Amino acid sequence: MTIELTINGKSHKVEADAATPLLYVLRNDLALNGAKFGCGLGQCGACTVLVDGKATLSCITPISLAEGRQVTTVEGLGTAEAPGPVQAAFIELQAAQCGYCIPGMMMSAQGLLQSNPAPTETEIRNALQTNLCRCGTHMRILAAIRRASELMQASLGPVANKRAG
Ligand code: FES
Ligand code: FES
Repeated sequence: MTIELTINGKSHKVEADAATPLLYVLRNDLALNGAKFGCGLGQCGACTVLVDGKATLSCITPISLAEGRQVTTVEGLGTAEAPGPVQAAFIELQAAQCGYCIPGMMMSAQGLLQSNPAPTETEIRNALQTNLCRCGTHMRILAAIRRASELMQASLGPVANKRAG
């Protein structure tokens, strides 16, 4: 069947079974390889994308559930020339070792910061709880998210910061 998906603001028509995991379509049909296949079972977070702004495990999300919604992948956060705040913070803090978990970490962070630009340490840790890193990069990742929060608040300006606080 034909399913229409909106990914990073762009519409795509995909011929696939409605139960096909969103991750497969992103990687195999649309060449959006940022989201990674880790466990395929909803247990590692490597495949995290945003669906209507909410961090979502794309390996266990059928494309039928993504239809008519806004899907954002790590490619939608910025470019190499103009990285978004989360990407810029991860680069600045060099928050990666092998890098396999990082797109998922970034998308969980983005989902958190979009709804809560000034999260507490506990809120950051809770939001990232389902994202695993086998390299043990956690402390740098947490530092990068705190930095991304600063960058995002700076871009929102003083009025928005007051509301977020
Ligand atoms: S690949 Fe989706 S949670 Fe592990
Ligand atoms: S940096 Fe290697 S899994 Fe996280």
